Amino acid sequence: MKGYVVLISVVAALGGLLFGFDTAVISGTINFIQPYFGLSETGLGWTVSSLLFGCIGGVFLAGKAGDHYGRKKVLMMAALLFLVSAVGSASAHTLIFFLVARILGGLAVGVASILSPMYIAELAPAKYRGTLVSLNQLAIVIGILVAFFSNYVLVGTGENNWRWMLLVMAAPAVLLFFSLFLVPESPRWLVARGKDNEALQVLIKTSGKEFAAAELKAIEKTLNVQEESRFSELLEPKVKPLLYIGIVLAVFQQITGINTIMYYAPKIFANVGQSNNSALLQTILIGGTNLVFTLVAMALIDRFGRKMLIQIGSTGMMLMLAGLSVLYFMNLTSGVLVLTFILGYIAFFAASLGPATWVVATELFPNRLRSKGMSIAIVSLWMACTVVTIAFPIMLEKLSGGITFLIFALICLANLLYVLKYVPETKGKTLEELEKEFSETEIK
Ligand code: BGC
Repeated sequence: MKGYVVLISVVAALGGLLFGFDTAVISGTINFIQPYFGLSETGLGWTVSSLLFGCIGGVFLAGKAGDHYGRKKVLMMAALLFLVSAVGSASAHTLIFFLVARILGGLAVGVASILSPMYIAELAPAKYRGTLVSLNQLAIVIGILVAFFSNYVLVGTGENNWRWMLLVMAAPAVLLFFSLFLVPESPRWLVARGKDNEALQVLIKTSGKEFAAAELKAIEKTLNVQEESRFSELLEPKVKPLLYIGIVLAVFQQITGINTIMYYAPKIFANVGQSNNSALLQTILIGGTNLVFTLVAMALIDRFGRKMLIQIGSTGMMLMLAGLSVLYFMNLTSGVLVLTFILGYIAFFAASLGPATWVVATELFPNRLRSKGMSIAIVSLWMACTVVTIAFPIMLEKLSGGITFLIFALICLANLLYVLKYVPETKGKTLEELEKEFSETEIK
């Protein structure tokens, strides 16, 4: 039984792998597409961020279509979009064609970023939900690593190297599409569509015969209103505080600065004058640390709880960033300490905010509003990601590294205080138990 749930989660997590791959692959192509399409620096910036605009559209698409057509069908559509984007961007001869292909890829990333974790959460038994949803974060991290490695391997394949780099994504896209035929639709969605019998069959397979009937009853109780939900329902007094928590956590995951390292590590190392860190070594160290500590999070998240992990993680991230800031202020950036603090920061992120943000986002909202609530929270995440990505190089140049990293350290502190005061613990309870608890207690 557990094996079946793991299989379902692995299939869904392929969506996360494509999310990680697609956001990271562009970094290796930049030096080649810039001359090929004759791009200025600004043109390059827009070309690179074109994906993000697609993401924002994709998140809304997932929120609406996920309710209407089901989680599984819409994930299949995302797999096809990933495929079209891979082939399209790899074969582009004009900039406009390239941009359209990347935006379509962004739509798919946006859809996958919501539906993969949500679908896992809706199928997972409460006891393992944190670990299983974190599998999606593990897949994102692996996707990033695979992109870096495959770019490195393909860079020597001649003038079409960037085309091959982008085409690689077609393989996991096809795999995701076909493997989705092996998995069932979410029982929570099936109940919402009045297909209770089908839902029961799925629950028997995922939770076992003795629990399935009771679980079905609990789900039915939360979904007694038949018509489709509306976004405006998120503003009802009982749901609004949960929406705020979802948005704030999503924004904090980004404004505590993770992608300043994930996207700009080579720039930081160059900025502190380190030349002996080859690109590959950095990738292995940063990507490897990210991977190992995501595994740590997976082992701990259902035992320690999400809140505890985020508290420890943001404290650790704050200390690492403060250390980095001090090194900049004291002009001590040439040694191995910079790398140590950066890796420490990544480790704390990967063991906490990385997976926990996505896990909590799937758990906050009632069954009826999950896909809409998550889409608002995750759109905020992508917007914050865009702002930080654009602002970081400017901050580094105008404010210096010392002040820049101090600001990020203070944001980690704010995150810690916020979580301590406002975020409820969600481990171990079924989504229905959480829904009942949140509707009965006063959430600030
Ligand atoms: C974040 C991404 C980030 C990645 C790094 C994810 O949880 O949402 O923005 O690049 O973790 O591992």
